[in-house]
Amino acid sequence: MCTPCGCQKENKGTPAPAEQAEAGGRGLTRRQAVAGTAGLGAGAALLTACGSSGESESLTANDGRPAQATDMAAVTDVPVGGVIQANNDGVTVMITQPTEGTFHAFSSVCTHQGCQLNAQKEKTMTCPCHASVFSLEDGSVQGGPAETALPEFTVEVKDGRIWVS
Ligand code: FES
Repeated sequence: MCTPCGCQKENKGTPAPAEQAEAGGRGLTRRQAVAGTAGLGAGAALLTACGSSGESESLTANDGRPAQATDMAAVTDVPVGGVIQANNDGVTVMITQPTEGTFHAFSSVCTHQGCQLNAQKEKTMTCPCHASVFSLEDGSVQGGPAETALPEFTVEVKDGRIWVS
């Protein structure tokens, strides 16, 4: 728990890419690696989000980017002009479709102090901790205390599925 903001810092157990690479190097399957480092990933997020001075630090090393291309959703899951929070195999991302047929994927980790974003009513990307709001088009800050846009990930649509890397 982060004392200054009182929010619960969690990253759904998504290990940092370096952790995943290290685990993969030991011959574990990706699922085993995720399960085995889930606690470590959450702990690392806590340590990263709340420094001893009480100020937040950069979360760029653990922004939730998948270590490899991951099938996150069907194109039909994402409403036109809206957003979903997609979860698969320990990865959580925000997927938007601001205009029909145009998809974007963003980190689900708020750039303010690291809370997990919500897809409120599938229309906005909003942080439940201090109400920052992010653009569906480019992840830019639309309101609230966040000052930095959400990291955008690579999207590839194949056979009606949205792959994020
Ligand atoms: S953590 Fe403060 S607005 Fe998201």
